[in-house]
Amino acid sequence: MALADFLQELDELAAAAQAAFEGAKDAAEVEAARIAFLGAKSGKLKAAQKGLGSVDKADRRTAGMRFNEVKQLVEAAFKSAEERIAGGGGGTTQSAEIFDPTLPGKQPRIGKLHPITQTIEELKDIMGRLGFSVADGPEIEDELHNFESLNIPADHPARDPLENFYLATAAKSQGGPLLLRSQTSTVQIRVMEQTPPPIRIISLGRVYRPDTADATHYPMFHQMEGLLVDTKVTMADLKSVLRLFATSYLGHDVHIRFRPSFFPFTEPSVEADMSWNDNWIEFGGAGMVDPHVLSAVGYDLEEVTGFAFGLGVERLCMRRHGITDIREFYKNDVRFLHQF
Ligand code: PHE
Repeated sequence: MALADFLQELDELAAAAQAAFEGAKDAAEVEAARIAFLGAKSGKLKAAQKGLGSVDKADRRTAGMRFNEVKQLVEAAFKSAEERIAGGGGGTTQSAEIFDPTLPGKQPRIGKLHPITQTIEELKDIMGRLGFSVADGPEIEDELHNFESLNIPADHPARDPLENFYLATAAKSQGGPLLLRSQTSTVQIRVMEQTPPPIRIISLGRVYRPDTADATHYPMFHQMEGLLVDTKVTMADLKSVLRLFATSYLGHDVHIRFRPSFFPFTEPSVEADMSWNDNWIEFGGAGMVDPHVLSAVGYDLEEVTGFAFGLGVERLCMRRHGITDIREFYKNDVRFLHQF
């Protein structure tokens, strides 16, 4: 056989083998290609090897060298096909082996504080700069602190068992039946019982009301309570504090509007609105601490006056971030939580 013919035969064999191994889709196809090209009895390489004997003697060395090259190439194609199938990857052998240092790395997931916790920290920070320190109270409260001392009489609709989470336990405290607190105003009483005026505190925490969950209600939410008691405290101080607070939190000049309202423990009482993006939005309840409340904790009405306010923390956080459904906070979906 002429050398040129033999070499051409080898080239065709190499190309066919490469195509067969690269195209093999599973282990059976790889094995079929192995038998066809590398089979010890009737494999195509074996046949080519036999053909080598018929090449002119003078050319046999060149032909032999090329034969060995092709044999190695076919064996390598078989090997990488085997690896590719074993690796389960669908791509070509090459792409599995190439390391591309320009691709972005895999970021480790680092935990974050819940958006409500972040908001609470920020509110503490802002109010701290206005001279308010943080006070805490229990989430399981008695009727004395949740209602009575706040001037909420027994027949007041806010005390309806259907409006509260009373605990189904025989345990009663000195302060009467126990319930999950429905407002953080309880902490006003707890602080004033323990501390003589002047008082300047905030209290942030969970409150509970049996509301059906929807976009704006949830049976548990957070409030920030504020209480300031001192000599000569007026509504103007209340408005200034709320305005400074809202401006700090939302980051630009916010206006505060008072609408007349009623709370048993403040007199006068107001609903505070703030203007934001040209809308008046409800912000929370507030007012001057009712004299009944001050005298019940033994404060001298001739000496001191005070103001109090209660704001919804979720609502503030939702405003800031454009969140439209309060339930998102408590689904624990990390795709949501990770954005804050
Ligand atoms: N505790 C009231 C509420 O939950 C809000 C409030 C707090 C109103 C303090 C006046 C003063 O609705």
